[in-house]
Amino acid sequence: LITLASPALSQSFPDRPITLIVPFAAGGPSDVLGRLLAQSMSQTLGQTVVIENVGGAGGTTGAARLARAPADGHTLLIHHLALAAGATLYNNLSYDTLKDFAPIGLVNQGPFVVVSKNGLPATSIAEFLAYAKAQGRGVTFGHAGVGSGAHLCLMLLQSALGAKFNEIPYRGTGPAMNDLVAGQIDAMCDQTTNSIPQIQGGRVRAYAVTSTARVAQLPDLPTLQQAGLAGFEVTVWHALYAPRGTAEPVVQKLNQALEVALKDPQILARFADLGTVAFAEGQRGPAAARAQLEAEVAKWARVIREAGITVSN
Ligand code: MLT
Repeated sequence: LITLASPALSQSFPDRPITLIVPFAAGGPSDVLGRLLAQSMSQTLGQTVVIENVGGAGGTTGAARLARAPADGHTLLIHHLALAAGATLYNNLSYDTLKDFAPIGLVNQGPFVVVSKNGLPATSIAEFLAYAKAQGRGVTFGHAGVGSGAHLCLMLLQSALGAKFNEIPYRGTGPAMNDLVAGQIDAMCDQTTNSIPQIQGGRVRAYAVTSTARVAQLPDLPTLQQAGLAGFEVTVWHALYAPRGTAEPVVQKLNQALEVALKDPQILARFADLGTVAFAEGQRGPAAARAQLEAEVAKWARVIREAGITVSN
């Protein structure tokens, strides 16, 4: 059966403003990314793309909000690795991670960076890790909720160190960063897109990145593998989603608008400044995003099991 793309449907879409759900609080990396895409897609689609911050439960609350939205393409979600890991960490989700989302396309990928408040008695990753291990629960680590990117990174760090810190949840790493800058919490494993401006402004201290190679914008920072944590690697990747059942012509039109954003030199320059990169052209469409989500659900199930990570939720 050849399903012909109904020109009428894609020509009329969108016929009203689009809501883009950001599943974390305003001011964090997901929010910054969402607003970058919304601004570009509004121009391309001729309808306003409005950001709706729906925080809570490590991003699963926002994901659930999309899963039950009408499948007409006027409600979208920007999400990252937490959507995949949530399938393992949450046993009472109101949605099926692999069935209830129609991927529109992959967006960007990049590392986390271990940062602390100014004044922590450590000036290198070696000193930071030694201090954290010695202090144990005496160290407060901010994150964005159980299973959020910052929390996944923190849980892997604790597992690699055989340590347990005092985990402080926020509705996003935007609010968490405010407390870190104010010295209210000690440390965080945060997306570079959120931390780089604070690091460059001297408002927080940075120690190492979670990629396998160093980050051009943070050339002096070693990787955690170089710091002795064998095999340690965490990459945060984002994708854009519509609800299951969204018509193919609508998915294609949304993907075309996403492509315009990912070819915009200003957006690509902003990505580079923030230590992240767009997925390669031709390898980031709906099918690639579906494959990435499926692979990451399986990967995080294995990583969480092998690290012996358990959470209460
Ligand atoms: C995360 O840790 O999952 C994100 O950094 C949270 C956010 O975007 O605020």
